[in-house]
Amino acid sequence: MANGAHSDALVFFGATGDLAHKKIFPALQSLIKRGVLDCPIIGVAKSGTDLAALRERARDGIHKFGGGVDETAFAKLCSLLRYVDGDYTDAATFAQLKVELGSARAPTCYLAIPPVLFGEVVRQLGASGIAPIARVVVEKPFGHDLTSARRLNAELHAAFDESRVFRIDHYLGKEAVQNILYFRFANAFLEPIWNSQHIRQIQITLAESFGVEGRGRFYDETGTLRDVVQNHLLQVLGFLCMEPPHWSDMERTRDEQVKLFRAIRTLTPLDLTRGQFHGYRDEPGVAPKSATETYVALRLTIDNWRFSGVPIFIRAGKCLPVSATEVRVEFKRAPQVVFKEPQPPSHNYLRLRLNPRIEIGLNAQVKADGESMIGQPIELLAIDQQPDEQAPYERLLGDAMRGESTLFARQDSVEEAWRIFQEVLGPVVPAYEYAPGTWGPEVTNDLILPPGGWHAPKM
Ligand code: BG6
Repeated sequence: MANGAHSDALVFFGATGDLAHKKIFPALQSLIKRGVLDCPIIGVAKSGTDLAALRERARDGIHKFGGGVDETAFAKLCSLLRYVDGDYTDAATFAQLKVELGSARAPTCYLAIPPVLFGEVVRQLGASGIAPIARVVVEKPFGHDLTSARRLNAELHAAFDESRVFRIDHYLGKEAVQNILYFRFANAFLEPIWNSQHIRQIQITLAESFGVEGRGRFYDETGTLRDVVQNHLLQVLGFLCMEPPHWSDMERTRDEQVKLFRAIRTLTPLDLTRGQFHGYRDEPGVAPKSATETYVALRLTIDNWRFSGVPIFIRAGKCLPVSATEVRVEFKRAPQVVFKEPQPPSHNYLRLRLNPRIEIGLNAQVKADGESMIGQPIELLAIDQQPDEQAPYERLLGDAMRGESTLFARQDSVEEAWRIFQEVLGPVVPAYEYAPGTWGPEVTNDLILPPGGWHAPKM
């Protein structure tokens, strides 16, 4: 297929799975509603179901997770939807898929299936002659360490060259995450202070107030570090700390991001603390003596000119007090004390709320009412909006079908991301128990300077 050709069919493996139910069907309805999806959509799964049942499952997913069924768009979705039921190891499944693809010249094949199945499906796509005309979309996790990520990549490249591989990290499809890039590089006032001379520290928090929600088996093999830090939060850090990309070509953004990742020091066990919420081991699918973390806090170091000496603190976890993802860039104090105040002014900060709503808050000191020159902190709230945007999966599926790869993870950055965490994957330090609804184990407070200096997302 020509690299730039718009796909004329969408195939998704794992059609009866959780991801299809919660994310893909809602995204498909939205793409149809916007008038940008009008080609055969072929679900593939091995579940003994049929097209009528798949349509019902699609309706249920859209109803529960997609903001409601739009009957016109849904009717269109049903008319485009086909279903192939069969084993992924069976060539007959792919022969049937070929029949359903008919005259399609440029299908997009989305592997919404567990990574252990990627290799076999890719092999079958190659053997059946579908791969040479197709793009492939794969879901994170891209391997579970550096070695397996390279193996997975070799499997993909056996049938698809890199320009036809699209690795989804849905954080890259979020408006709020893309806005980090825009906000940094479309404004002149930030650049002079965006460096170690002015930035004291950076904190990134991804907090979720819920647990593993029926995903115990997946989560127990994965843990927080692999689930959201090695990918989602590293992407956020990439946009936050990269050098300005040359805009002649969007690919340069991915170049800058990988350059930044290369400058991040490999973590050692001294750089992180792990926690596990009380009750986790009773979750279905979780090993009774599991040492998997449901919480991680860590310190990263960037060895480059701009950020040398600026500590980066990241924490993420399940069963925390709130659900919110937030970046906080804290600045150093003014060079001299001018006003004699009982308390020194607090550190200014820039707060970027990524989830659940987008906010940009800039903290400043202003004079408090009264005769003395005593101040108080205020926050200038630049944006406070409910995201009325394309959901990440809608955006990314649409991009993949158009052959637009900028918002997908590139293999070199995936490998660098694994390299950064390679020595701290698994139980390298104990996972201390914490009570659900708290900010993780006590020991986390010692990781940060000053001790206990974490800032909870402002709710
Ligand atoms: C997914 C993880 O990739 O990201 C989940 O597997 C996590 O465990 C989710 O809850 C967070 O994404 P979002 O968009 O809800 O912040």
